[in-house]
Amino acid sequence: MRGFTAALLVWTLVSPQGGGGEAWPTHVACRDGNLEVLYQSCDPLQDFGFSVDQCSKQLKPNLHIRFGIILRQDIRELFLDVALFSQGSSILNLSYPICEADLPKFSFCGRRKGEQIYYAGPVNNLGFEFPTGEYQVLLELYNQDHSTVACANATVLCS
Ligand SMILES: *[C@@H]1O[C@H](CO)[C@@H](O)[C@H](O)[C@H]1NC(C)=O
Ligand SMILES: *[C@@H]1O[C@H](CO)[C@@H](O)[C@H](O)[C@H]1NC(C)=O
Repeated sequence: MRGFTAALLVWTLVSPQGGGGEAWPTHVACRDGNLEVLYQSCDPLQDFGFSVDQCSKQLKPNLHIRFGIILRQDIRELFLDVALFSQGSSILNLSYPICEADLPKFSFCGRRKGEQIYYAGPVNNLGFEFPTGEYQVLLELYNQDHSTVACANATVLCS
């Protein structure tokens, strides 16, 4: 999404949530001809910014993403769990190491609680083609102590 700016990100991170357990706003991670990805933070304490530059139903093996968050935990190690659902049925679970003590993959690995991360760059993945349909995705980033660093639920609409 080209409209993504650091200013919007900061606004998103500090914008008060309002009373009574209201949900965080829904953000567009990417929207293109036949693919739309919407997400919402499911961490009650904070929102985060995320976008994918090229959006296509055939995910390229080398995606360019932008991601920004204020860390509430140290991330000596960081892992991502992804669960994909269609019409309430579980289709796929993936677990992916992002930072490991001996093998940091990204410049932000090892950052401390309270620091802000803003990453814009490539991520490798296996490449994936979304079949037509609507999917729900749960994403959780967690650290070496299994404390949640970020959590999101997303909807993928592929036509
Ligand atoms: C996230 O989950 C909530 C509660 O189930 C749901 O209402 C919302 O539409 C979901 N948001 C996205 C972007 O999928
Ligand atoms: C994904 O994990 C959940 C929870 O552990 C499990 O119930 C589900 O069957 C798994 N789905 C697949 C496709 O393995």
